[in-house]
Amino acid sequence: MKKVVFITGASQGLGKHCAIEFANRGYDLFLTARNYDALKQVETEIKNKYKVDCEIFLLDVTSLENWRHANDAFFHRYSNLDILLLNAGISNPVWFENFDLNNFRDTYETNIFGILNGIDTFLSHFLQKQSGTIAVVSSLADSRGFVGSSSYCSSKIALSYIAESAAIELADKNIKFINIRPGFVRTNMTAKNQYKMPFLMSPARASKIMVDGIEKGKDIISFPIITNILTKIIKHTPRFIYQKMITRWKDNQQNSANGNGR
Ligand SMILES: NC(=O)c1ccc[n+]([C@@H]2O[C@H](COP(=O)([O-])OP(=O)(O)OC[C@H]3O[C@@H](n4cnc5c(N)ncnc54)[C@H](OP(=O)(O)O)[C@@H]3O)[C@@H](O)[C@H]2O)c1
Repeated sequence: MKKVVFITGASQGLGKHCAIEFANRGYDLFLTARNYDALKQVETEIKNKYKVDCEIFLLDVTSLENWRHANDAFFHRYSNLDILLLNAGISNPVWFENFDLNNFRDTYETNIFGILNGIDTFLSHFLQKQSGTIAVVSSLADSRGFVGSSSYCSSKIALSYIAESAAIELADKNIKFINIRPGFVRTNMTAKNQYKMPFLMSPARASKIMVDGIEKGKDIISFPIITNILTKIIKHTPRFIYQKMITRWKDNQQNSANGNGR
């Protein structure tokens, strides 16, 4: 029997490319997001190219009620879930001088509670059958508090810690809990970044690494290797050095934003 994967945020970017990669490997799909037209396009693209079952469903991950409906729709179509890929996420860079409480609320609602809602919905299924994989998409940005991204970085470190605890606690139930930590990937999320993103990779390449790692049952999928090493170094850099480095970077950013770039 074909394996089935449920993906959030499948209308574009990493979620869409993971859907295509899973379809290429013969998985049946249950794809979710809020944008119906974009989801429909992904479904058409997949059905035209691959002989797999593909269902789409409108789901706002922040709504537990939406998740309950998604659960019903999923089990109406399939009897078993093999992989739950909790990928949907947002990033809205805001500097502290423009502090916006709602930015923090929205980011945490999507990047943390959006994931927890999914776990709340499907964990009992995995526990009951004592098998399956839950994969969450965190980020290498969980390494340190980067400037302009405090809401995003803090949401991702929370998610990475949740994943670390869950992986240990669920291991003896034969449930794999995978933390995926990408570096910069070319998607609509990063398109708004004004700065040069080191080792930016294509979403097709990134999703291949993600799906490879999920199939191998890795605990953590951090990539690309070079950014992973750099962020590890940054993580362990003494605070006063880190502060100097990042302050210089921040000043350069603000100068170029004000048109004073050298
Ligand atoms: N791109 C990178 O460099 C990078 C690096 C590290 C980690 N990541 C992480 O990778 C994941 C995917 O990012 P991406 O780069 O592919 O971003 P993206 O192109 O902006 O796609 C984000 C996806 O999330 C969905 N989404 C957002 N809010 C949602 C909500 N409330 N309910 C349901 N779906 C929602 C969007 O779909 P709808 O708008 O249709 O709902 C969209 O499909 C995120 O968790 C992100 O933090 C990305």
